[in-house]
Amino acid sequence: MTTFTAPKGIPEYFPPNSAAFLAVRDALTDAARRAGYGYVELPLFEDTTLFARGVGESTDVVSKEMYTFADRGGRSVTLRPEGTAGVIRSVIENGLDRGQLPVKLYYHGAFFRYERPQAGRYRQLQQVGVEAIGVDDPALDAEVIAIADEGYRRLGLTGHRVDLSSLGDDTCRPQYRERLLAFLRSLSLDEDTRERAEINPMRVLDDKRPEVRELVADAPLMVDHLTDSAREHYESVKQHLRDLGVAFNENPRLVRGLDYYTKTTFEFVHDELGSQSGIGGGGRYDGLMAELGGQELSGVGFGLGVDRTLLACRAEGLDVGSAARCDLYGVPLGDAAKRRLVREAGALRAAGVRVDLAYGGKGLKGAMKAADRSGARFALVLGERDLEAGEAQLKDLSTGEQRSMPLDGLVDEVLSAVAKA
Ligand code: HAM
Repeated sequence: MTTFTAPKGIPEYFPPNSAAFLAVRDALTDAARRAGYGYVELPLFEDTTLFARGVGESTDVVSKEMYTFADRGGRSVTLRPEGTAGVIRSVIENGLDRGQLPVKLYYHGAFFRYERPQAGRYRQLQQVGVEAIGVDDPALDAEVIAIADEGYRRLGLTGHRVDLSSLGDDTCRPQYRERLLAFLRSLSLDEDTRERAEINPMRVLDDKRPEVRELVADAPLMVDHLTDSAREHYESVKQHLRDLGVAFNENPRLVRGLDYYTKTTFEFVHDELGSQSGIGGGGRYDGLMAELGGQELSGVGFGLGVDRTLLACRAEGLDVGSAARCDLYGVPLGDAAKRRLVREAGALRAAGVRVDLAYGGKGLKGAMKAADRSGARFALVLGERDLEAGEAQLKDLSTGEQRSMPLDGLVDEVLSAVAKA
């Protein structure tokens, strides 16, 4: 018989650990909702050109990592490697940019990158993202960063920091690029690195090899060559972050893997995750909307890695998300008791209590074991004799206390026990 395995490099989440996955995703999306962002549900695949143009042909994401295929109509489509290009496409297509600005949107879901799988680096990754479109206000950049920080904090994370930099605007960046390229051309770099420098000189600043690091130690930095307006923007973002109480680390060598960034860029880093330490990142992308055929509107946003944030929580020993599948586990002993408990389970669920039952005619011992494993706080045992007496036994599985309660009015009794628990 053939057995099947999941595609390589894709994390799967199932109970009990999937509860922690959901808790991480929900903490990050809650932070976005509290700042007035509205949910968007977008396609998992788009026209390939959207990403090539939006993210940039020269990036690794586009040139090496996209899942691209021809659909049955012969169109080239790509599984989304990131969320920003799709959001901007949708905003333009649906005319959201003609309403009140900024348009504030959040999303969560799967993204696809054909990377070499390793711990924390997956081919299907999960992100929570926000995009604020249409207002070029440094307070909005600070808001976006503060939302991410707040989301991480709610989970109890303390070991993260945010690296911050400015990539300049469309006046100072091209000038800086030439300056940096001239500097890099004057160095004795290997052939490969030279070629990379010609395509994107900023990436060489991020090279991890010690010999290259040494060579580029005196390279000119973007933050020293900002136009007055880009500098004012950057200073203002930092001031707002201080006002918000969000600590940041200025890192003038911060390089992001996507081409659309302008001015503010940032990356959340967690030091206990080894080489895949980026738990989230983002920045401003003022030219993207026009590049994708829309108005000249600015934007700023982030993408937070849910998988990596979960790994960070584990690394810090945080117990996030309750793994309990239900509040109450019903244990019927005998057919008549089972019929009654099935009925009571329906009524309890309708009243909002999470209920599971021992199915398959388990004996008392096996059923109590299953009750423990379900994570329920209470077991409700109903035997033939209880049924005749018109009562059931409610056992608190955390204290071992047991008491009987009348079957008539069971829903109210259980509701109050669960509320007190
Ligand atoms: P990104 O930095 O490419 O930005 O991805 C955001 C986050 O997704 C990363 O910090 C990381 O936590 C997670 N991530 C990326 N690739 C992988 C992978 N292979 N395995 C596991 N996690 C991964 C963006 O995607 C931008 N769209 C963010 C943005 C929104 N910028 C502005 N708005």
